Parts: sequence; C-alpha cells; structure tokens
Amino acid sequence: MTRWWKPAVGAVAAAVLTITALTRPAPLPAVAPVPNADEQILRGRFLLVSHACGDCHGGGNNPAAPGWLQGLRDTLQQFRIGPFITRPRNLTPDNTTGLGRFTERQIFNALRYGLRPGETPDVEITGTTPGQGNFPARPKYLAIPMPWPSWRHMPDADLWAIAAYLKRGLKPVSNKVEDSDGPPDFWAGEYTVEKIGPYPNPAYPTANETP
Ligand code: HEC
Repeated sequence: MTRWWKPAVGAVAAAVLTITALTRPAPLPAVAPVPNADEQILRGRFLLVSHACGDCHGGGNNPAAPGWLQGLRDTLQQFRIGPFITRPRNLTPDNTTGLGRFTERQIFNALRYGLRPGETPDVEITGTTPGQGNFPARPKYLAIPMPWPSWRHMPDADLWAIAAYLKRGLKPVSNKVEDSDGPPDFWAGEYTVEKIGPYPNPAYPTANETP
C-alpha cells in the first residue's frame, strides 16, 4: 500500500508544481544580474563593503568613491599604536605598490592568519602552531589595527571571495604607502591566544551563552 501511494502522491505534487510554475511569474533574483561579473567577485565586493574595509583602506563603503581601497593618501588615515605609526596599505592589484605581486592564497593567509603577504611565502597553511603545517616559525603579523583577528573566523569561501575581488575585480592604482612601523617581534606579543582568543572559536555554548 505505502509503496504504491508514494509515487502517486509525488506525481500529483509534480503536476501541481508544473501548473504553478506555468501560471506564476518567476521570482525576482535577490541580486540584479551584472553582465560578465563573476559571482565570487561580487560576493567579495559585498564583503568588502559590509566589513568597513574602505574606512581604513580608502573610499568608505562606496566602490565608486575616489581612493577606493587605494591605501593611505593622507596622514589623517594613519594610526598611532604606542610609539609606532601604522598605515593602511594599497589593496588594489598594482604590481609595485599594491597586491599585484601576491597570490590570492597570500591574501587568504593574511586574512585568516594575519600574516604579512610581503613576508610570508605562498603556501597552504594547515595549523597555527609556529613551525608546523607551514605556519612560519617566526610569524610576521600585520600591524594593529588591521582587524584580522575577527575576520579570520569568516568561512574559507568568503576569504577567497575577498581575495578574488581584490586581485581580479579592482583596477590597479599606483599609490606607494610607506611601511608601517612595528616592534621587533612583528606584533607576535600582541596576537597571543590570551589577547585575541583561539582560532577556531570554542564550541557553542560557552559559559556566556545559553545552551
Ligand atoms: C581599522 C583599520 C582597518 C580596517 C577596517 C581594515 N584594515 Fe586592512 N590593514 C590596516 C592596516 C593598518 C594595514 C597595514 C598593516 C601593516 O602595515 O603591517 C592593513 C593591511 C591589510 C592587508 C595587507 C596588505 C599588504 O600589502 O601587506 C590586507 C590584505 C588587508 N589589510 C585587507 C583588509 C580587508 C579585506 C579589510 C576588510 C575586510 C581590511 N583590510 C580592513 C587597517 C585596516
């Protein structure tokens, strides 16, 4: 009995669905389609805009604004961290002054592990213990206040999308940003588990959360 009815009900449902599809207009897509725009690049663009990257790297939240992600143009955009001056870098894919000479994986590693793309090789990293799984024995971290300790928790696909947008969705613009100053340990003393928390996050629920 049961075996006989299942396909029969399925067939009725399929017929109803077909009729509904024929009579109802197709739902509007959530995002307006852009000719030739790659979905991954559009996802990356959305993440850049919604994570305030342009507040430090230039252009605010508007990809059409002058200076969009071109890095420090004015000393008002620099930071004083203790005795050090740190400067948001040029994120456009310019070969000499921006991210052009780095691979998408080096950008991924910068966002996931805070490692400076200019001083960290292009390798897949499989853990966060220095000297193991390709994690550098002496990691050179991005200067404060680049908020990678929060954004490293984004899913892999989102970090790859950000890298794709920066490398393939933006026009290269030449803007040489002076290197940030920093302590001799390249900020390792500031990026301990005690100060920035563990990666990945502890399991839910912790003592602060409702079970
Ligand atoms: C609060 C300010 C701030 C925000 C917001 C910010 N950054 Fe940064 N970022 C910096 C600073 C400062 C540096 C330079 C670090 C250094 O010189 O070591 C930097 C460096 C970087 C680098 C390394 C570039 C290089 O050439 O070494 C990348 C990649 C980067 N940021 C991506 C992003 C992305 C993507 C976002 C948004 C998801 C973002 N940043 C948001 C301040 C910021």
